Amino acid sequence: MEKTPVLILAPLPDFLMQPLLAAHVCHDYFHAEDKAALLADVGAEIRGIVMAGGSVSPVPLLEQLPNLEIISVFGVGYDGVPVDWCKAHAIRVTNTPDVLTEDVADTASALVLMTSRKLIAANRFLHAGAWTKGAFPLAHALHGKLAGIVGLGRIGKAIAHRLEAHGMRIAYHGRTKQEVSWEYVDSLVALAQQVDFLVVACPGGAATKHLINAEVLAALGTKGTLINIARGSVVDEAALITALQNGTIRGAGLDVFENEPHVPEALMQCENAVLLPHLGSGTHETRAEMARLVVENLAAHFSGAALLTPVC
Ligand code: 8YV
Repeated sequence: MEKTPVLILAPLPDFLMQPLLAAHVCHDYFHAEDKAALLADVGAEIRGIVMAGGSVSPVPLLEQLPNLEIISVFGVGYDGVPVDWCKAHAIRVTNTPDVLTEDVADTASALVLMTSRKLIAANRFLHAGAWTKGAFPLAHALHGKLAGIVGLGRIGKAIAHRLEAHGMRIAYHGRTKQEVSWEYVDSLVALAQQVDFLVVACPGGAATKHLINAEVLAALGTKGTLINIARGSVVDEAALITALQNGTIRGAGLDVFENEPHVPEALMQCENAVLLPHLGSGTHETRAEMARLVVENLAAHFSGAALLTPVC
C-alpha cells in the first residue's frame, strides 16, 4: 500500500516513530529548521498530522494543508487542536483516552502525598546527612481531610477513588452535577474555601484558561494545597507564584506548567512546591498503549474503517 504523507508536530518517542515511518512518509515539522520551506514543499500533500497532548496545531498552519484529513493526538488532551475549525472542514481528530487514566491519577495522588507529608524535602534532608542532627519536622495527615476535584471526568474520578483510599472526603466542581455520591459544589470559590486540597483535572483550552486565579487561591488559603495534573493553562501561574511566595496557600504539587518545558525561576525557588516534568502518563506501559492508539487511528482512517477513539 502506498505510504500516506503525514506531518509530525511534536518530538515523538522511537516506539511511536517506528510504526509511523513504516506506514507513512513522515515530515518532521517540529525539528525542521525552515518550517515555511517545508510547508511550501510538502504542505499540499499532507493528509495527516501527529501531535502530542501539549502541542498545538493552529488554524494558520492547518490552512496551509489543503488535503489534511485527520489529526491524531498522542495524548488525551486535545486543547491544542482547533476542534470547531476541524469539524467545519471535515477533518477528523483522535486522542488517547482511558489508557492513561490510572497513571495520571497515580501521579495526582502521589503529589497529594508528597506535598502533605513533605516527602521530597524529607528525602533531601536524609541525603544531606541531617537526620543525625535532629528529627525531620512533622507534616500533615491526609485522613479526614477534604479534597475538591475540579473536573470530574474519567481522570478526576480515578483520583477521587485513590484519595478516598487515603481516608479523605471528596467534593467536586464542574459544569454539571453528576450521579455520584460525592458532594457537588457549584461555585469554584466556595469549593476552594472548604477544601484542604484543590485538585485540577479538567480539560485545558480557552474555556478553562486561568480558572484557578488569585481569587480562587485566596479562597484556598493557608490550609490549602493546589494540585494540577491537567494543563498549565488552567492556573494563573503568576498568581500562584505570588501565593506560594507569600505563603497565602500552603503549597502546590504541579505536573503541568503554562509554558512547558520552561518553568519560571521564581516557581522553581518555591520550597513549598513539588514540581514534576509533565510525567503523568509517562510509563512504558501507558505510552506504548497511547502510541498504539495513534497508529491504529491513522490506519483505520486511511483504510476507511471506524476510528478507535474519535474526538470528532
Ligand atoms: C502526555 C498529556 O504527556 O495526555 C495528555 O494530554 O498531556 C500527556 O499524556 C503527552 O501528550 C505526550 O507527549
